[in-house]
Amino acid sequence: SSVPVLTIDGPSGSGKGTVSRLVAEQLGWRLLDSGALYRAVGYAAGMEGLDLSDGDAVTRCAQSVKIRFQPSADGADTRILVNGHDATDELRTETAGAAASAIASIPSVRQALVDLQLSFRKPPGLVADGRDMGTVIFPDAPYKVFLTASAAERAKRRYKQLKEKGLGVTLGTLQREIEARDERDASRAVAPLKPAEDALLVDSTGMPIADVVAKVLAVVRP
Ligand code: C5P
Repeated sequence: SSVPVLTIDGPSGSGKGTVSRLVAEQLGWRLLDSGALYRAVGYAAGMEGLDLSDGDAVTRCAQSVKIRFQPSADGADTRILVNGHDATDELRTETAGAAASAIASIPSVRQALVDLQLSFRKPPGLVADGRDMGTVIFPDAPYKVFLTASAAERAKRRYKQLKEKGLGVTLGTLQREIEARDERDASRAVAPLKPAEDALLVDSTGMPIADVVAKVLAVVRP
């Protein structure tokens, strides 16, 4: 495809979500939040009472689930509908993140989400946020970034985000949960979290978000 893609991969709390949204806004490109797809499948499977380690059942769920992104007028608060139900708030929790990480290690579940992800590549361009955007889904993307930050800073950012949403968590527990999830994402056999060879590594530890956005934008518009 000749439609340009900017892939932004990295661990949770690296700032990927916010940076991807702001960069997509600046470029006037579409946005793919691929983590939301895995969260939605984990959530739908939970609603159906499935055992998250039952690969066949969760794969059928991934093949049939209806996921819709409903942008708000200002683009800042996209709602996510799972089988017609607004699950935005439930999907943000660390419980949903852990469920997503569990089902994301099943190869046939990942396979079931490939076409949907590819369908986001439409003119004038796409910003794709995830773990395997630059390595597996859009290996031919002309622009690739791997965004990271220290574990302590990532836990602090997620803590602040969840606090703002009014979700009760403690920093210590959150840091342990995030480390466990990253460890699982990085060590799984299929599409592990790792930088593409041709990705620009950006460590956002201690960097204001505006500086990170500027650095990532410069990859597309030097
Ligand atoms: O980015 P987010 O925290 O929403 O992702 C939730 C989980 O979904 C990740 O921990 C990871 O296991 C999985 N994921 C993935 N591949 C992606 C995006 C997310 O495996 N491209």
